[in-house]
Amino acid sequence: MKQVTTTVNISAESQPIDALHQTLRDKALEAARRAYAPYSKFRVGAAVRLANGEIITGNNQENSAYPSGLCAERVTLFYANSRFPDVAVTHLMICAETDEGVLKNPITPCGACRQVIIEKENVQRQPIEICLAGRDEMFIISSAAQLMPLAFVPESLDNK
Ligand code: THU
Repeated sequence: MKQVTTTVNISAESQPIDALHQTLRDKALEAARRAYAPYSKFRVGAAVRLANGEIITGNNQENSAYPSGLCAERVTLFYANSRFPDVAVTHLMICAETDEGVLKNPITPCGACRQVIIEKENVQRQPIEICLAGRDEMFIISSAAQLMPLAFVPESLDNK
């Protein structure tokens, strides 16, 4: 029997955090506030930092035909890639709020978003630090690959 194990290296940081993480958290939260989420009222914001120093933000976009919407992580990564296709992503920060305020616990990206983050990691051959901000605590995961063992990757298409 083959066994695949995965390790998730999570460092849990309490506030205060360093300046970069603080900036990314603030920008992700600002983006969450602009989310178009009238159906779930669950507003998610993401901020990605690129190797050239640019910070790109985005948020979830819902639709009355529910499956037509898209998560904040994919909106943000696709937009970043459309503007800077050849620049590596170094960090992806995620946070969410409802009408009751910022969520107490960090949220993790859904499976489809993990797939998209991992594709970028594979193409750029450099890990993306995943930062998940809750109200008073932030989880930092060193690579998206840890979040999805046995992911389908570009090389999977060339498996002869
Ligand atoms: N959502 C995200 O944007 N990111 C996540 O990581 C989880 C879920 C969105 C999808 C939908 O608009 C709303 O949150 C409720 O699921």
